[in-house]
Amino acid sequence: MRTNTSLLLLFFASLAVSKSLPLVNSPQHVLNGADLDVPGENHLKFCQSTSDYILTIDYVDLSPNPPVPGKTLLIEAKGHFSVEVTKGAYVNISVKYGLITLIRQTADLCEQMKNVDEECPLDGEKVIRKEIKLPSPIPPGRYTVLADVYTSEGHQITCLEANISF
Ligand SMILES: *[C@@H]1O[C@H](CO)[C@@H](O)[C@H](O)[C@H]1NC(C)=O
Repeated sequence: MRTNTSLLLLFFASLAVSKSLPLVNSPQHVLNGADLDVPGENHLKFCQSTSDYILTIDYVDLSPNPPVPGKTLLIEAKGHFSVEVTKGAYVNISVKYGLITLIRQTADLCEQMKNVDEECPLDGEKVIRKEIKLPSPIPPGRYTVLADVYTSEGHQITCLEANISF
């Protein structure tokens, strides 16, 4: 439970830290175009074309957006699963600071979902609402936060990332 909570926290806290500082869009962002932007009030992007993703995201709203270190972040999201997602699905999350990988961790998706009051199997439409208290800032730099989500058979559920240069 502690690990799962900290993973979610980690992902959004990393965003908060990076977004709280002057932001320059990376060239990669410009090249990829707006079609990879995750819908809603957020600065997230999909890792690549979403056509094969099992999860379609209608929106992810972060409030405040961008998140503020040390403040409570409200996450509201809606999406739907095109096929049933069962036990064994997992999230690979990594946080890079410049070229250095700070964290690389694999987490159980079904365990993660308990943090937002959902459980497996996941199917159809889901709406989640979650408040998390973000820690205070860590040193400035360039961060890449990546959350890559797969079924137990290795089919891609979704992949979200934040690339920030400042
Ligand atoms: C997820 O991470 C694990 C452990 O690092 C790795 O073995 C696995 O290949 C990764 N999965 C994908 C699809 O990248």
